[in-house]
Amino acid sequence: MTRKRIAVLTGAGVSAESGLSTYRDNGGLWDNYDPMEVASAEGWAHNPGLVLDFYNMQREHLRSVQPNEAHRLIAQLEERFTVDVITQNVDNLHERAGSTHVVHLHGEATKVRPENCYNDNDGFSERQVFDVGYDAVHLGDKAPNGVQLRPHIVFFGEAVPKMEQAIELVSQADIVLIVGTSLQVYPAAGLYRYASPGAPIYIIDPADVPLWDKRIVHIRKVATEGMKDFVQML
Ligand code: OAD
Repeated sequence: MTRKRIAVLTGAGVSAESGLSTYRDNGGLWDNYDPMEVASAEGWAHNPGLVLDFYNMQREHLRSVQPNEAHRLIAQLEERFTVDVITQNVDNLHERAGSTHVVHLHGEATKVRPENCYNDNDGFSERQVFDVGYDAVHLGDKAPNGVQLRPHIVFFGEAVPKMEQAIELVSQADIVLIVGTSLQVYPAAGLYRYASPGAPIYIIDPADVPLWDKRIVHIRKVATEGMKDFVQML
């Protein structure tokens, strides 16, 4: 028998209980930093040192945190289902919890690439991406081709190269699970619309859900608690 497929779309809320800040909650990252300065294409052009410092800080923080029960329960779904995790998060906590198929829509904090590689259309290829782990990257740090390294992050104002792959995975899913995202940032926020008509959509988030679709089941809990409920409901 073929296994059912679950597409899991995650945002910063799934990592909140690991101690990583979300972006838009009170006291979140975007309360303390201007995303246009530290995470946009314009910000990089204007002050790349500030952008590098922001992601150096993220990387350093990531070194000290651990996956939580929600990441682990998502990974354990692979014992019974074919699971595709599509995450907006730039952390590596899904992988560290054991998920084997993770698509990072907005890039990865532990990786860098030459600043002249933007996306597939501009010649960007995974071969040009370097894993720096949790180490800092500074102005003057260059790729073997002599070009300044930049964070392997999809900055505001840039295309989302993995969107097509994500759409395909969501459309193939028998069940769609959304965990801990405010669904404010497009195109990721529109992904649920590609769910096949028969697929139920579960959303785990302690806050109101900005979507309406009669298929949506809102589990109004934090990720670790909501994931336990979700597993029971399967
Ligand atoms: P947001 O900060 O916008 O939303 C976080 C969501 O997590 C909110 O809906 C919260 O209610 C929920 N939340 C908070 N604590 C939670 C918990 N313990 N368990 C479950 N949910 C919880 O973060 P994202 O939606 O991920 O992009 O933001 C999307 C994108 O905006 C990010 O990928 C980032 C940002 O700008 C880039 O930097 C490119």
